[in-house]
Amino acid sequence: MPGKVYAFANQKGGVGKTTSAINLAACLAEAGERALVVDLDPQANATSGLGMRANGTSTYDLLDGAPLTSLAKPTQFANLFLVPSRPELAGAVVELSQREDGERYLAAALQESDGFDFVLLDCPPSLGPLTVNALAAADRVVVPVQTEYYALEGLAQLVQSINLIKTRLNPRLAIAGVLLTMVDTRTRLSADVEAEVRKHFGALVFDAVVPRSVRVAEAPSHGLPLTHYDRRSRGAEAYWKVAMELVERT
Ligand SMILES: Nc1ncnc2c1ncn2[C@@H]1O[C@H](COP(=O)(O)OP(=O)(O)OP(=O)(O)O)[C@@H](O)[C@H]1O
Ligand SMILES: [Mg+2]
Repeated sequence: MPGKVYAFANQKGGVGKTTSAINLAACLAEAGERALVVDLDPQANATSGLGMRANGTSTYDLLDGAPLTSLAKPTQFANLFLVPSRPELAGAVVELSQREDGERYLAAALQESDGFDFVLLDCPPSLGPLTVNALAAADRVVVPVQTEYYALEGLAQLVQSINLIKTRLNPRLAIAGVLLTMVDTRTRLSADVEAEVRKHFGALVFDAVVPRSVRVAEAPSHGLPLTHYDRRSRGAEAYWKVAMELVERT
């Protein structure tokens, strides 16, 4: 059976997509699940955040029809694999929009994700062809939302895109949950924004939230997920809770 595929999407930049994808993948891997991160962002933050570099094949080749088995590289962490990205992936945006059926390439490539229990797709900050491919290939979408004043901005458009892709390309697509990131419990603003997001999305919002914390921000500069950088940090504990909720939400 192919692994369950999660897309981490929000066209807004810097909301915690990559941080959430790599840390949740690391939690799942540590729990004994075989987890694959596919870095779909030419910025390649998920790649460097896991201490990897694409010197050779990358997601670009995946979208070009190369087999997943040859592209998924083991990381230094047990059970955790990566299809790395490189800046050239930016070129795929143009090519995909020109190819016939260009929205379904990733879905086709992930058909053979049998060796993995979970596949996590880290999307770029746009609703362009790479994100559309991710949504066409995913079972579920995780929507990280930065807990700040403009949090809800753009979410209506994202939900609209998800619904469109569900209707047109991928009927099994559903939102796994909205994840509040960079929550600052000391500020009134953070509490207000959290309340507003919960009012708007109700049970779709994960109970667990990710606190704003320097440890979370530091970890990628060491090429380590939080489980390995500082497993007792509040951020690591938060991502464990989110991972458990994610698995419980089918
Ligand atoms: N909980 C947190 N506490 C503090 N800093 C955080 C937290 N989560 C993420 N960050 C930092 O915020 C920045 C943006 O996070 P991240 O790269 O995960 O967002 P993104 O949505 O993937 O961004 P992009 O849209 O550019 O791909 C990064 O520098 C990251 O280290
Ligand atoms: Mg990112």
